[in-house]
Amino acid sequence: MSEYEAKRSAETQDGLGTERAKPSDTLRKHRPDLDTRVCSDLFSDVPAYTPARKLKVVTVGAGFSGLLFAHKLQHQYPEMQNLIEHNILESRTELGGTWLVNTYPGIQCDVPAHIYAFPFDPNPDWSHFYASGKEIHDYLVKTTKKWNLDRDIRFGTRLQEARWQPDSGQYKLTILCNGKREIEYADVLVSGQGILNNWKWPAIPGLDTFEGHKCHSANWDHNFDYAHKRIAVIGNGSSGIQIVPQMARLQGTQVISFQRKPTYIYYRMPPSKLLNRPNISGNPEYTEEDKKRFRENPAEHRAHRRMLVHRINRAFKMFVKDSPQSVEASRSAREQMAQKLNHDPDLCRKLIPEWSLGCRRITPGEGYLESFLLPNVHLTQSPISKITSNSVITEDGQEYPVDVIACATGFEVSFQPQFKLFGTIDPSTSEPFELGDLWKDEAESYISICAPHMPNYFSFGGPNAVIAHGSLIEAFNWTADYMVKWLRKMATEGLKSVTPKQDAIDEFVAYGEAVHQSLVWTDNCSSWYKKNRVDGRVTAAFGGSAMLYKQLISELRTEDFEIEYRERNRFAFMGNGFMDFEFDDEADLAWYIDR
Ligand SMILES: Cc1cc2nc3c(=O)[nH]c(=O)nc-3n(C[C@H](O)[C@H](O)[C@H](O)COP(=O)(O)OP(=O)(O)OC[C@H]3O[C@@H](n4cnc5c(N)ncnc54)[C@H](O)[C@@H]3O)c2cc1C
Ligand SMILES: NC(=O)c1ccc[n+]([C@@H]2O[C@H](COP(=O)([O-])OP(=O)(O)OC[C@H]3O[C@@H](n4cnc5c(N)ncnc54)[C@H](OP(=O)(O)O)[C@@H]3O)[C@@H](O)[C@H]2O)c1
Repeated sequence: MSEYEAKRSAETQDGLGTERAKPSDTLRKHRPDLDTRVCSDLFSDVPAYTPARKLKVVTVGAGFSGLLFAHKLQHQYPEMQNLIEHNILESRTELGGTWLVNTYPGIQCDVPAHIYAFPFDPNPDWSHFYASGKEIHDYLVKTTKKWNLDRDIRFGTRLQEARWQPDSGQYKLTILCNGKREIEYADVLVSGQGILNNWKWPAIPGLDTFEGHKCHSANWDHNFDYAHKRIAVIGNGSSGIQIVPQMARLQGTQVISFQRKPTYIYYRMPPSKLLNRPNISGNPEYTEEDKKRFRENPAEHRAHRRMLVHRINRAFKMFVKDSPQSVEASRSAREQMAQKLNHDPDLCRKLIPEWSLGCRRITPGEGYLESFLLPNVHLTQSPISKITSNSVITEDGQEYPVDVIACATGFEVSFQPQFKLFGTIDPSTSEPFELGDLWKDEAESYISICAPHMPNYFSFGGPNAVIAHGSLIEAFNWTADYMVKWLRKMATEGLKSVTPKQDAIDEFVAYGEAVHQSLVWTDNCSSWYKKNRVDGRVTAAFGGSAMLYKQLISELRTEDFEIEYRERNRFAFMGNGFMDFEFDDEADLAWYIDR
């Protein structure tokens, strides 16, 4: 066996079971004129851009991002089926991620439902301007079935560890499936593991000694009867804001909202006005007539969605600190909030923030502020000092006896992956870099999608993605297109590994920090966009508009990457020197002459 054949043969023993065509057969077919004895390993038997084998791509997570990616690979770019083999690992037994697990009362989207949907299958049937969590989950399940997007999902399968193998240019994956440990290999690892996925109990002394009913917004217990109970709701992020009015409306409840700082409740225009409805509703219904029109006239549906997207993109300037748009929107929000609070001076002082609108995530918060006008809803902004077996005690010395503690206290937002991810070797220790370790203090990405020292690793919604402005689904859509571009290039041009250069990461981070000084997210509030800090880097949100992000990731900036090739000559992908269509006798070989 020649050295070339031995190498090829070894490559087929890659654990992927991929069979290659025998060189001489194909070569003889296409180039009968050639003497195969002159072929070197550079001159292969197949047309240019023909992958040596399918790339094995493994995606983590079957939420919006993993499913959207599945659609790209199966339907939008069907030719990818010839280039890659795709698997989705999902630790849960059902799809939906965020919308599977967050089922607390009152959950709904905070961007208009018509733009919180898969771009490839917009839903004409949304019942309300803001859809409920259940409706969103039903839509995810239905759309998945319709497009067969669960074809490649392995449910109940958790990725525990991914370890880069520099020789083969693959990740060795350790997977836990139904309690059994398995090993798999992937040329490319895609993370759709979610950011707001890993909920945690708050670090409040004594919480574990509480003997009443305790739950978390992301793990709501629906078997418990909350009526006639004294309920502490801790936290006033978007989750707490949706939970409070729902608890308040139950029979016989006393609700106490424990919050340290206020949150803006705001919409730029009342949704009812946007939909030309005569009644004032924070969440108007779409009528059967609307749905029928959207179903039967996709152009009208698209126009409605475009109107919503355009308004949101246009509004980005309100996130520029002290801009006229920010000043005006903050003023208008304060006015809206004061109205909802019936201009009660004490409530206005406590519940209307001082910082610029948007610093913490804005929420429409239907019915939230109005709850505080009810006799059964109470508010304290004194921080909790401890929890006892039956009460919550605040720093001002007040004790609140309660039956239920509902923690709406958010998620683990460090961006450290939910599996051990080992990359290239750190020359200073001779051990591999580990992403959780690299990101234990600050998560620094390359344009939110790639991570330092992690070859062939791509993420949805990584650090500094478009997360704080508009629907995340569009940003995921652009990100998925970006990833497909890499996959295509890697498969057809024989790329073994692509790793973002450290200086590109450093400069992206430095640029982000600089531009964030001019944006409201660095204002004087605590928020998960900044890892729950008041000061410090904005780790979650992109430093710029969604429009800029879209443009930035619309092409591969290959100059920002270290690239390694599978063959020793980077042009080996040129194969037998022909494009494949040249072997089609019917092909038009003058298509580029257009005038
Ligand atoms: C309550 C709530 C409401 C929200 N509302 C909005 C909104 O209105 N608008 C908006 O734009 N965004 C909203 N978001 C953000 C929301 O998270 C995203 O819009 C989107 O749903 C995220 O989808 P995803 O697929 O990236 O992640 P997720 O939905 O979090 O899915 C990640 C999946 O990965 C799986 N997974 C994680 N680790 C592993 C592992 N190691 N192995 C295998 N599987 C794993 C998880 O089980 C999960 O199914 C909301 C978030 C929350 C929590
Ligand atoms: N569609 C929607 O409307 C919707 C609904 C829910 C969630 N979401 C998304 O998910 C994100 C997270 O929302 P979230 O509300 O779940 O979490 P969050 O925004 O992180 O809010 C957590 C809340 O808990 C408080 N908290 C945390 N630890 C505490 C402690 N030890 N003691 C007292 N209070 C504590 C925080 O207070 P401090 O701020 O004072 O630290 C904050 O008020 C949102 O920003 C949004 O992106 C969207």
